[in-house]
Amino acid sequence: MYTLICHLPLHNENMPFPVHRPRRLRVTESMRRLVRETHLEPDQLVLPLFVRPGEGVRNAISSMPGQSQLSIDQLVRECESVHALGVGGVILFGIPETKDEQASGAYANDGITQQAVRAVKKAVPDLIVMTDVCNCEYTSHGHCGKVVGHDVDNDATLEWLAKTAVSHARAGADMVAPSDMMDGRVAAIRTALDAEGFSNTPIFAYAAKFASVFYGPFREAAESTPQFGDRRSYQMDPANGREALHEMQLDLEEGADLLMVKPAGPYLDLIRQARDRFDVPIGAYQVSGEYSIIHAAAQNGWLDLDRAMLESLTSIRRAGAGVILTYFAPDVARALA
Ligand code: PBG
Repeated sequence: MYTLICHLPLHNENMPFPVHRPRRLRVTESMRRLVRETHLEPDQLVLPLFVRPGEGVRNAISSMPGQSQLSIDQLVRECESVHALGVGGVILFGIPETKDEQASGAYANDGITQQAVRAVKKAVPDLIVMTDVCNCEYTSHGHCGKVVGHDVDNDATLEWLAKTAVSHARAGADMVAPSDMMDGRVAAIRTALDAEGFSNTPIFAYAAKFASVFYGPFREAAESTPQFGDRRSYQMDPANGREALHEMQLDLEEGADLLMVKPAGPYLDLIRQARDRFDVPIGAYQVSGEYSIIHAAAQNGWLDLDRAMLESLTSIRRAGAGVILTYFAPDVARALA
């Protein structure tokens, strides 16, 4: 015994090896499981779904393999199935029959999203139903608010957003998620919800939403590509991290209950900073482009689909996100079952 110790270096502070061998805890899958720090729970995943008018409609979205635009009857079936898999919630995006300059389909009481919320809450009451509160799917020009000249008028848009949020809450939405990036929209929505008797409806603010190329496939899915210009006068510059924290701080002060970072994978630094700084649930949206690049690479045989899915989402969780919006939600639930 004595001889053995004598052969080892005595001052290990300066020479940790061979005392420290991190590989000891990686020897078997059981050992790796025992010390694993981060887990994905289907409970905290939210599946985005696209709903359109019609009956029996399942329009495959070519840029997002496995995703479809669904009519309400098909949407209800999908929600029943994801609920059975243990997925925590869905977020609905409506594609109206017609679009106009006023986005009137966004806040109509019998609009496509409002009808969808009613149908899903009736069929699957325990599934959390969130709604995306925005105008771009409902405006003829594809911008997220009221266009005046060549820009979106912030304050005029707030009224549409507040009406939309109230109409979603009235239809039975469990939570509203404004994604428009107008200044002051959380306060406007909170005030309107409270005035209409929905003081218990939480607001999940897309607080740090960047003007990202990774929304490309979604715009095909939601038919919401801007007809002129882009969204850079309201969505954030991808270069700005401090500004993202400021946006989150403002949304919190205006009454947001949860804060979201979007996209997720390219913005892990902000998820971590938000987690460390704010004591509310932090969410992240793994957007369409993040989903589609994984699928495209897998289709080419360049990487394994399931492993890429799980690694990308585990990293988003490790960075500090609780709730994760992801098109992979049911696939993750199946993979973990
Ligand atoms: C609506 C909205 C968008 C997304 C969510 N809500 C599109 C956009 O801002 O252009 C993107 C979601 C995705 O890419 O998966 N404003």
